[in-house]
Amino acid sequence: MKLDFDAPPADPFDVFTAWFDHAVEHAGTPNPNAMTVATATLDARPTARIVLLKQYDHRGFVFFTNRESRKGLDLATNPRAALLLHWDNLDRQVRIEGPIEQTTEAESDAYFASRPIESRLNAIASDQSRPIANRDALEARRASTDAVYADGSDPVRPPHWGGYRVRPDRFEFWQGHPFRLHDRVTYVVDGEAWNTMRLMP
Ligand SMILES: Cc1cc2nc3c(=O)[nH]c(=O)nc-3n(C[C@H](O)[C@H](O)[C@H](O)COP(=O)(O)O)c2cc1C
Repeated sequence: MKLDFDAPPADPFDVFTAWFDHAVEHAGTPNPNAMTVATATLDARPTARIVLLKQYDHRGFVFFTNRESRKGLDLATNPRAALLLHWDNLDRQVRIEGPIEQTTEAESDAYFASRPIESRLNAIASDQSRPIANRDALEARRASTDAVYADGSDPVRPPHWGGYRVRPDRFEFWQGHPFRLHDRVTYVVDGEAWNTMRLMP
C-alpha cells in the first residue's frame, strides 16, 4: 500500500495492516514482526529490548514474555509502552505508543500451548532477567524442568508468563526518502476517532 501522507486513511490499523502484510510478504524482510518495546521505571528510567509481535487487532498489539522480567517489573508500576517496528529493506518504521494491559489467562494459555515444546520448557526453566552463575547452571535448570515433565505430561504455563497488549493512543508511520526529505504522519486518538498530522522529517 502506498500511503498518501497528505490524505491518510481514517483508521491507522488499516495502514498498519497494509504495511505489516507488505513487510511479511516482501521477500527478504527478516523478522518482520520483531519490534523494540520501550518501558520506563516509575522514576523515568527508560529501557528497551526486542520482542516479537504475535497478535494485533483493534484492541492492540500483543507480545508474550515473563512478567517478572525487567520489562515486567517496569510495566507493573508504569503500565505504558512504546513499540517500534523497523523494516530496513522497505525504508519504513512504525511507532506505536499507549497504555498496556495483560492479556487474559485464556489468551496466555492459548499462546503458550501453541509454542514448540522446547520453547515451553525453556520458558519454565528461565527466571528471565535474573542473574545466573554460568551456562552449566542454566542447563541444569532446564534439566530439572525436563525431569518434572519426563512422564510426557504437558508443560504448564507459569503464572508469571503471559502476554501484554499495548492499546495505542498514538501511531507514527514513517517512509524514508533519498536525502532525508522523509514522509511522516502521526495519528493521535481523539475519542473514537483519530487526528492525523503530518510531521517534518
Ligand atoms: C529477535 C528477538 C526476539 C525476541 N523476542 C522476545 C519475545 O517475544 N519475548 C521476550 O520475552 N523476549 C524476547 N527476546 C529477548 C528480549 O530482547 C530480552 O532479552 C528479554 O525479554 C529480557 O528483557 P528484559 O530484561 O528487559 O525484560 C527477543 C530477542 C530478540 C533479539
